[in-house]
Formats: sequence, C-alpha cells, structure tokens
Amino acid sequence: MRKFLFKASLMAAGLATALAATAAHAAAAPPPSEPGDITPQVVGGTLAAKGDYPWLVHLSMGCGGAMYTEQLVLTAAHCLDGTGPDTSIGVIYGVVDRQDPARITRTSTYVHSAPGFTGVTTGKDWALVKLNSPIVGAATLPIATTTAYNNGTFDIMGWGGTSEGGNSVNRYASKAQVPFVDDTACSAQASYPNLVKSDMLCAGYKAGGVDTCQGDSGGPMVRRDANNNWIQVGIVSWGSGCARPDKYGIYTEVSTFAAAIAAAAAELGGGTPPPPGGKVFENANNVNIADAGAAVTSSIAVTGVTGNAPSTLKVDVDIKHTWRGDLVIDLVAPDGTAYRLKNSSSNDSADNVIATYTVNASTEVANGTWKLKVQDVARYDTGYIDSWKLTF
Ligand code: ARG
Repeated sequence: MRKFLFKASLMAAGLATALAATAAHAAAAPPPSEPGDITPQVVGGTLAAKGDYPWLVHLSMGCGGAMYTEQLVLTAAHCLDGTGPDTSIGVIYGVVDRQDPARITRTSTYVHSAPGFTGVTTGKDWALVKLNSPIVGAATLPIATTTAYNNGTFDIMGWGGTSEGGNSVNRYASKAQVPFVDDTACSAQASYPNLVKSDMLCAGYKAGGVDTCQGDSGGPMVRRDANNNWIQVGIVSWGSGCARPDKYGIYTEVSTFAAAIAAAAAELGGGTPPPPGGKVFENANNVNIADAGAAVTSSIAVTGVTGNAPSTLKVDVDIKHTWRGDLVIDLVAPDGTAYRLKNSSSNDSADNVIATYTVNASTEVANGTWKLKVQDVARYDTGYIDSWKLTF
C-alpha cells in the first residue's frame, strides 16, 4: 500500500491527471504481482500521464512502438512475423489507458522487418509497421542519426510486465528512467559476452530494479536532444530476465540503423519523418508582395517547444519573384526582434528566393508568433511568398 499512498499524496499536490489514472487503476488493475507492489508495468516505474510520450503506441500482439511518420510505426522485428502484407495488428495511439475512449486506433497493412534479422541476440531488431491510414497530425518521434545521444539518462515506457514473469499486457502505460551503460561494461556481464556492440545499446542499473520487461518490446527508449526535444535512441529488444542485478536491458541501437529505417520508410510511403532534433512549423499560404510597396508578412504560430529557440534556427524560405534583388527579407521573433535574412541588391536579377537560412535565435523564447517579413524595394518585378517554415 505504500506506493499507493505516495501516489495519493501526488494527487493532493494537484496532479489531477495522475490522480485520476491512479484511482482508476487501483480499481481496475489485476492483482498485484508481488505483495505490496501496486505499481504496474515497466519494472520499477511509475504510471505515465497522458501526453508524456505522445508518439507512443500499443500494438495488439503485446508490443510497443513509436510513430515515425503519421502512417509508420517503428517497433522491434521480434514482435512481428517478417516482411510482407500483414493486416493482423491493432494499433492504439494517443492514450496511456488502452481502454480510454479517446484512443485512436488503426490496423496494419504491411510490415517491413529489418533485412537479416534472425533473432534478438544477433541484432538488427527493428521493423516498420504501415497503418491502414495516416493518423493526421500525430506526434512523431525523431530518431537519432548519430551516436551523439547514446549516453546520459533515458526514458523507457510501455504497457509491459511490472516484474519478471508478471502480467505482460497492462491497461496503463508506465515509465521509468535508466542510465546509459557502455558496451564494455555491458558485455562484461555473464549473459552478454556476445553483445553485438554496433547493433545494441545497454541501459539500466548495476543493482537492477528498473527495466523494461516482457510486453514493452518495440517501444522507444528516448532522451532529450540539444533543443530539449525527445529523440529516440533505442528500441526495447531483450535482456536476461527483467531488472536483475548485473543484467542490463538491451535496446536496438537506433543510430546504427537510422539510414536503413529512413530508406525503408521512404519506400513504404506513409509520410515524412520528423528531422532529428527538429520540430517543424510551416505556413504555405501565399502572400502577394506589393511592387515597390510596404512590407508584407506571413505568420507561424509556434507551440509546444520548450525554452528558447536554438542558435541554429532553420528558416526555409520559398518566395516566387521575377527579380529577387528587389527583396529585403527579415525573420521577426515573437517579441518583435527582426533578424535580417537577405538584403536587396539591384544587380541580382535572378528569379525566386528558395533558400535555407540559419539564425542564431537563442535569446528568443521559441513559443509565440514568428513572422517572415518581405519588402520589395524596387519597381517593375513582383511575386509572392509561396511558403516558409521554421525548424526548431
Ligand atoms: N523481449 C521482450 C518483449 O518481447 C522485452 C524484454 C526487455 N527485457 C529487458 N530486460 N529489458 O517484450
């Protein structure tokens, strides 16, 4: 009962969501798997709150996954039966309670399993599942494309077992944090001498106690990137038991397979993955630019980005114009600060400004309304803002 009381005190602190989920769980949960243990799922974890991991999905064979695009789920190959058409998988998105009426559901149409996958102990444990239709507006999770984030502290989550040998499909998702473990330390453990270091990433505590477990497979292991956005570094793959001392959890090393995953996704269709470390906002409404007239603007409302804008804020500009030297272009931050992207130059007679600018916007709060401000300062030629986007 101790853990329940602790959660009740969180409720008293005003975390209404956590409280409601906890109360509902207390009533609906299967019997605790260990005396005094009422915390379900991920071993050593706590209940996840709705919205903690918006790209997290549950797959009906009893695995987790993450939205890679609006129509593709990245999961583990060992959850699936190999590459080919597959309409058997039910997918639940957008909830931590699998019975939440607000859940969004899809079914699979096709599975792309990593070429050469033969079993978890030999690596390559990743797969993409294509959904019968896109989840329009779904949160998507960027994947690590380099080893830069294969360190630090990771978040793990899923609907899997609360303890080794316990119930492996739970109603509510749980979460926990585990530290990175380097390959040398990991492969020094008795069960892991054949660790495939390029393909596998280890995480957990030497003392055990916190781990993913059966039913969490395929789910993402994530951390924050330099812009404080989630980035996927691992896929729950295997381990010797769950949360045992000296037996770390083993995850697919996503950065090793990033290019192969991207290539497979491009072939499968089903939308564009988020750029690593990037949250993209776009305005594709055309705005006419008056000839030798007043400046015009196009706005983008940025929400959901934590903290300040990056020092490498990417501004993609697509302006159609018949004499681009006429144009002066600024990026205007929510507080009104203007960053000059381009000056006029009377001898630049080329068409169009289709360019990517990088702006050091690190003193600007990211959330708010950003504007692209364009002025045509010379006569005769005209054009319009076709689209522009910001990548945080
Ligand atoms: N293979 C398991 C599954 O199918 C996941 C095991 C993860 N184990 C661990 N100790 N981290 O759900």
